[in-house]
Amino acid sequence: MPEIIIKSHAEIDAMRRACRLAAQTLEEAAKLVKPGENTLAIDDFVYEYTLKHHAKPAPLHYQGYPKSCCISINEVICHGIPNKKTVLKDGDIVNIDITSILDGWHGDCSATFYVGKPSPDAVNLVETTRRCLEIGIEQVRPGARLGDIGGSIQEFAEGRGFSVVRDYVGHGIGREFHENLQIAHYGRKGHGLRLVEGMTFTIEPMINQGTWRMRILDDGWTSVTLDKKWSAQFEHTLVVTKDGCEVLTKFSGPLANSVTPADFKF
Ligand code: MF3
Ligand code: CO
Ligand code: CO
Repeated sequence: MPEIIIKSHAEIDAMRRACRLAAQTLEEAAKLVKPGENTLAIDDFVYEYTLKHHAKPAPLHYQGYPKSCCISINEVICHGIPNKKTVLKDGDIVNIDITSILDGWHGDCSATFYVGKPSPDAVNLVETTRRCLEIGIEQVRPGARLGDIGGSIQEFAEGRGFSVVRDYVGHGIGREFHENLQIAHYGRKGHGLRLVEGMTFTIEPMINQGTWRMRILDDGWTSVTLDKKWSAQFEHTLVVTKDGCEVLTKFSGPLANSVTPADFKF
């Protein structure tokens, strides 16, 4: 089994650039989220923007994946394939997941967006999921254990009546898209591998309104909830630092169409 790759400061600098591009691409793609937009148009934008910035979209041809990003609406958990016939409509929630390769390094991030006006149930799901990612990030420091991340996320999500997807996990990332480190979004605090400075990985909780169980559509990629209830996801790439962590894919400001409604309270 390949080992966990610890990155040097120079390597983290290079990753920071790839991650910044992924975050910028997502910030720009976010502006296209509106009723009537088809998901292929968003994918086309991601492809062009990435090439213009001397990078490559990591999903394209990755294990046969056909497009440049993943766009997952409502009951789609992840790996939704952009398609001209898939059109955003008022009230949908949509995750856009962007991974860029710049100078051989990967940056991976995603967010869930509101299309037009969301229902209270949709807001509750999306804001809970946003908070799950924040809670996961808050656990990360040298000596913390993987179970601290997963356990904290699971406790919060289930405490609010949601379920945590089991079939997909966060992952080590660097020169490879998916490196040998698995970050489950469920688990037991105080258990599991201890984090070490220089580890780079994603946290990307997928949180469901109903069952966490899923099935894959006939396209071989699209993962949907078994009960057709909705699923949301947020993702960042981060590095373990001396005394905590640095979010490498952080945004430069509020994300268009993914702003917490002013009247929302936990
Ligand atoms: N970006 C996804 C992740 O967060 C992986 C997508 S794989 C693809 O790990 F092939 F669908 F692009
Ligand atoms: Co991703
Ligand atoms: Co990822």
